[in-house]
Amino acid sequence: MSDKPSYLGLLNAIAVGESGAHAYLTAWIEVTPDPDVRAVLRTVAGREGEHGMSFAKRINELGYSVRDKEDPGFAKRMRVAGSDRTDLEKMEKLGLNRLDTGEGPDVFDDVFKNHSIDIRTGELLGRYIAEERDSARMLRCCYEQLKARAGQRGATSRSDQLESLEAKVDALCRAVEDLRQIVCAQAVPASAS
Ligand SMILES: [Fe+2]
Repeated sequence: MSDKPSYLGLLNAIAVGESGAHAYLTAWIEVTPDPDVRAVLRTVAGREGEHGMSFAKRINELGYSVRDKEDPGFAKRMRVAGSDRTDLEKMEKLGLNRLDTGEGPDVFDDVFKNHSIDIRTGELLGRYIAEERDSARMLRCCYEQLKARAGQRGATSRSDQLESLEAKVDALCRAVEDLRQIVCAQAVPASAS
């Protein structure tokens, strides 16, 4: 029987996935105009980058090295993150608003069903999972704030439109009144003659 840990593939997937997430979140940090979004992204990107390195380090300690996997979605995520789309659109496109499942099951629930995981790797996985869930909560909270702000902006612009419409109606009423007076003034001498 091979000594190769049965969970090596999992460690590799985490190392590659986390490094990729660090790359696209960093590209987003560079273009976001919003300091609140930037602060959240910095925390999450820092964790992702550290996870990528720590899992690569653990794979190395176990006697192996990270195998890069072809990820067709990565180039697309980089494009979205560095684009001039709004932060709200990016959250939705990248699916970062859906990572937090609250009390519901998530992708990490089955990790420790593998009872052969060694202690050091288990420690690393435990911290990783707790940080991922916390990042998911932070991103969801950030998304909800962005959505609420976008809703407020929509409402504000509607009330602005209504105000300018009222001003136009007032001006129109004044113009009609002026016209009426002019027509009346002209009509009086005509009927008097
Ligand atoms: Fe992650």
